[in-house]
Amino acid sequence: MEEKRTVCVTGASGYIGSWLVKTLLERGYHVRATVRDPGNEKKVKHLLELANASTHLSLWKAELAKEGGYDDAIQGCEGVFHVATPVELINQRQDGEEEIEATTLNGILSIMRSCSKAKTVKRFVYTSTAGTITVQPQPPVSEFTEDLCSDIDLCYLHKMYGCMYVVAKTIVEKAGWKYAEENGIDMVTVHPSLVLGGPFITPYTNISIGAAISLYTTGIASLKMMNGFSAVHVDDVCNAHIYLFENPLAKGRYICSSHTVNLFKIADSLSLKYPDRNIPTQFEGLNEAQTMIPCSSKKLMDLGFEFAHKNKETRDLCAETIESCREKGLLG
Ligand SMILES: NC(=O)c1ccc[n+]([C@@H]2O[C@H](COP(=O)([O-])OP(=O)(O)OC[C@H]3O[C@@H](n4cnc5c(N)ncnc54)[C@H](OP(=O)(O)O)[C@@H]3O)[C@@H](O)[C@H]2O)c1
Repeated sequence: MEEKRTVCVTGASGYIGSWLVKTLLERGYHVRATVRDPGNEKKVKHLLELANASTHLSLWKAELAKEGGYDDAIQGCEGVFHVATPVELINQRQDGEEEIEATTLNGILSIMRSCSKAKTVKRFVYTSTAGTITVQPQPPVSEFTEDLCSDIDLCYLHKMYGCMYVVAKTIVEKAGWKYAEENGIDMVTVHPSLVLGGPFITPYTNISIGAAISLYTTGIASLKMMNGFSAVHVDDVCNAHIYLFENPLAKGRYICSSHTVNLFKIADSLSLKYPDRNIPTQFEGLNEAQTMIPCSSKKLMDLGFEFAHKNKETRDLCAETIESCREKGLLG
């Protein structure tokens, strides 16, 4: 295995973070994984069991709301992948901006200040979301691209599902770009659409896994969120993070998305695959013929990135996620 550089991954225990750590370790990186509680076996055992973890992985305790909390983990790193976000908290809430700011906004700024102090960080890769692009008063005719920025007033106006998530991610990303420009940080942002697929590493589910399996579990709120939205395999998302870290020509924002979700088609297919589950195939309030506006990954692909899972059907990404949950006994 080729010896590589030392990088830090925040939010390493989560769905995307743990897969990113796995991929970095497989490629020979030394990984400093930050978690809020290294003593919580449920949150770290899956990381410690990864291939090469015994020689190339270290765990660091860090919390977004604590200024300077990432200094030690980042000192000496060449790259920082900032993946952590209190997704659960901000997805449930329709208010509470102050608390959300204290974690997400102060979190990114604190981490970027740690990068400045370290003087060793060559690139800062931030996991944003397609949600900071797709909330538009006048949606584009053909596709969403990186030059768009979500309208947060519209999020509040429509009290849309996950409103505070989109608001927080949009504010945080803007603050990150401002800090990067003012302080000479080489920042690249990755904008995944809904992240699906497996077999995932975490021993628990999260919001996007919940959405991917929602037809199976009939989680109605998640179902509504899914229809017409774009999606991408977690493996492609993590490969894109590393590709953008390694490619000297990478610059700016990059959508990472390969599929568009048609809930009706997926439901038809999954109801055949799991006949005992009574999977619904009709959805009140949703339009089967709704126009799908994809998130374009042209900028990422023009840079040379290839999606490994783009030829899979979306229903197969959902089925992979369901099977992974079944194997782990997470479906009750
Ligand atoms: N999943 C998707 O569909 C999707 C799509 C687009 C963008 N994203 C972005 O991808 C990133 C990761 O998402 P995910 O799906 O992997 O979420 P996840 O499984 O919920 O993981 C979130 C991680 O954030 C950490 N975290 C939460 N609150 C924290 C705090 N106050 N201080 C420090 N760490 C904290 C958690 O670490 P602990 O171990 O300490 O609890 C956890 O590892 C997020 O930034 C999200 O916005 C996700």
